Amino acid sequence: MNKVYSNDELYRLNPVLKPEMRDGVIYIDDFYENAEDIYDMITTRPYPLWKYNAEEGETRNGIDYYDCRIVDKNGHPTREYFNEHNRILDICRRYWWKGEYTWDMIYEFNCFKPIKEMANELQHYPHIDSALGTPDANSVLNFLVYMDKVEDGGTAVYGGEWITNDENINLLYPVEERFKIEKVIEHKFNRAVIFPGNCMHGAYINDYSKYKDDWRFTQVTFYKPINYEN
Ligand SMILES: [Fe+2]
Repeated sequence: MNKVYSNDELYRLNPVLKPEMRDGVIYIDDFYENAEDIYDMITTRPYPLWKYNAEEGETRNGIDYYDCRIVDKNGHPTREYFNEHNRILDICRRYWWKGEYTWDMIYEFNCFKPIKEMANELQHYPHIDSALGTPDANSVLNFLVYMDKVEDGGTAVYGGEWITNDENINLLYPVEERFKIEKVIEHKFNRAVIFPGNCMHGAYINDYSKYKDDWRFTQVTFYKPINYEN
């Protein structure tokens, strides 16, 4: 029999959040109260390919690697749902935009797995989620929760200029030929990290062989300041 769950219960936060700000990034470990249940849910379902168009026929997605996305809409957000987000936003307001935020009411997970052997120089293509040059206090905030137990790599933040992003053709690129890694936000199961999306960044994997049998999962949410043009 198929399982049934309540969004509020599944995604309930730890009642005691312990945020730490380090080098411009908020880290909150032990983020979800029922992280194991979320892990079970995302590891026992199929994943649709992301940015995939068979008519274009150019992508390496599905050949070299699987890049998939779970996107579950919360069609009936409750008071508890908003309260939980406001707990996170109150932490964000200590450092960045002090006012109200908007976000898509979805539960979205990046699901990635190599198919072929991958050279470790290849990394997810850097991108921005808010214009470069946006002040941190006005930037869209990237809110990630690492949800796999391989716990390899994390999210790299790069210096350097923006160049065209062809990630729909090949997501993976020898990034250090063009960009300098400023820091890697370290992956840990059930760790939330929050940082302004106005810098070049991308998923970072040290050792692809670790994901030979397991998927990499990252939940992503974007908090957008209201009344500010990003
Ligand atoms: Fe991003």
